Amino acid sequence: MKKHYNSKITGSGAALPDQIITNKDIEKMVETSNEWIVSRTGIRERRKLEDGLSSADLSERAAKEALNQASLHPSEIDLILVATVTPDHQTPSAACILQSRLQAFKAGAMDIAAGCTGFIYALTVAHQFIFSGAYSKVLVVGVEVLSRITDWEDRGTCVLFGDGAGAVVLQAAEEESGILNFSLKSDGRGAELLYVPAGGSAMPASLETVKNRMHYLRMNGNEIFKFAVRVVEDTLFELMQDKNLKPEEIDHIILHQANLRIIDHIRKHLKLPPEKFPVNIDRLGNTSSATIPIALHEEFMAGRLKEGDLVAMVAFGAGLTWGGVLLKW
Ligand code: UT7
Repeated sequence: MKKHYNSKITGSGAALPDQIITNKDIEKMVETSNEWIVSRTGIRERRKLEDGLSSADLSERAAKEALNQASLHPSEIDLILVATVTPDHQTPSAACILQSRLQAFKAGAMDIAAGCTGFIYALTVAHQFIFSGAYSKVLVVGVEVLSRITDWEDRGTCVLFGDGAGAVVLQAAEEESGILNFSLKSDGRGAELLYVPAGGSAMPASLETVKNRMHYLRMNGNEIFKFAVRVVEDTLFELMQDKNLKPEEIDHIILHQANLRIIDHIRKHLKLPPEKFPVNIDRLGNTSSATIPIALHEEFMAGRLKEGDLVAMVAFGAGLTWGGVLLKW
């Protein structure tokens, strides 16, 4: 019988811009209030990348920290996967630019575009390469510079998003731990609920598209909210069901940080304590594919992830996409 390999996170890292944009700062840009933003989203501040820097600068910092923690030299990496909707360029991939920055020249490199679920998709792809025995060391990065595709005149979206990166190293492991289960889902019928209308082959950039602010994110927040509440809990149960686990047996439930009300709703419905649900949306806003790897790294650095702990991660976003990964730390 063909041998399969477990895959385990051996290092993590994160990178955040220095510049903090508070709700008070946003009050000066659009018709909104700190009170509305905090009560409707849980967000108090977010980070914004300095002019002149790009997503490659954030992913390089996060990746180097993760490699360092895993005690790996970049030349040992087999594959680099970058989950992002804000790469430096439309082509080549963000992963190729990161490979060059790291000088990880043995590695193959590609991007995964799955909106805010991108990190979950990329981690699952990394797991498959390791599970099959093809590769043993994969670098997975979730990075976003959403401030560059945010319409700072649209109060429905500009209060929500932030910039940041998180990274993990996934390695083959002999012991019975690491990734235990995954779920990847999508429904392309919801494509226009969260999208950037122009700049692709459907509507190339022109003076007209720029004038009409069509290179910025457009979102139907209400519909995404309802969809999120539905799929997050379904995904959690799907991850646990195969393994005969109950919600109370999961030690850390790391949900995509899109709105604190979504996280609180799920937590209350499952009747679980807040300590199980890491939160960074209050400080960082929604950093799309970076929210989960940043939260995972923060939990690790705070000493809250203990060997043998069960961690469930669930995300949802543009596509529509959603999915989750269950792992034993
Ligand atoms: O990462 C995945 C993608 N994104 C998401 O997951 C986002 C999911 N959706 C949400 O988090 C919420 O839908 C939002 C936070 C975006 C909006 O909250 P909401 O409670 O769904 O508000 P709403 O869109 O129903 O708007 C309610 C009111 C409206 O005014 P009227 O029509 O009732 O007079 C909006 O115009 O709030 C108004 N509004 C604002 N007011 C002050 C919308 N944005 C703002 C704002 N400040 N920033």
